[in-house]
Amino acid sequence: MRHKLVIGNWKMNGNRAANTALLSGIVAGLNDFGADCAVCVPAPYLAQCQAELAGTPVAWGGQDVSIHAEGAYTGEVSAAMLRDFGATYVLCGHSERRAYHHESNELVAQKAVAALAAGLTPVVCVGESLAQREAGQTEDVICGQLQAVLDALQPDQVADIILAYEPVWAIGTGQTATPQIAQDAHRFLRNCMANKNAAAAATVQILYGGSMKPENAKELMAQPDIDGGLIGGAALKSTDFLGIIQAV
Ligand code: G3H
Repeated sequence: MRHKLVIGNWKMNGNRAANTALLSGIVAGLNDFGADCAVCVPAPYLAQCQAELAGTPVAWGGQDVSIHAEGAYTGEVSAAMLRDFGATYVLCGHSERRAYHHESNELVAQKAVAALAAGLTPVVCVGESLAQREAGQTEDVICGQLQAVLDALQPDQVADIILAYEPVWAIGTGQTATPQIAQDAHRFLRNCMANKNAAAAATVQILYGGSMKPENAKELMAQPDIDGGLIGGAALKSTDFLGIIQAV
């Protein structure tokens, strides 16, 4: 039985005062729900998460990671640096990184490898654009994105990643994938993983992301292959974020 996990991706939002209000709201409202929870924050706020979340049930992580361990890579943040500030997770290959920073499938795979080497759990994001879906390319696209990561991992490492299926057309648009569309994609991804490591494919958590809100979270998370959510906009308000966690 896979445990549910809800991760808030703050993207490039927040400031120290707003973060404190948001984090304390989440911590105060968390109860004995069936989901684990975490926030992935801009790198400058990792120290704040460490200070304000240590000892709470809320984990934290980064939104991107360098493929390099250290050195002359201005602007980059290494996996070890994220670990140094207590991070558990790091997003790899979010569609906004792929689109705005031209991250290739191979680069994303290297990021997942770097994260694992430092003891972080990579949350590998995959998803098709609207044009790709309309052209019938969804499975080719998301399988290709996943396969690059699988090719870079040893079979026994597959169990140590988390996947997030985020159809690009559903991100920040209010247009959520139907539970069936999401379930079909999640099942397909799990089957792709099984070719590399069948046991791991059964245990790896696959999160759904794309306009998940308290109102639609329950139906999405009731699907057999949806193991939680990667939440953008609704993660910026503690009541909405908690509402999603409570939907599990
Ligand atoms: O990482 C989160 C996703 O991009 C979803 O964002 O919930 O604002 O649609 P959204």
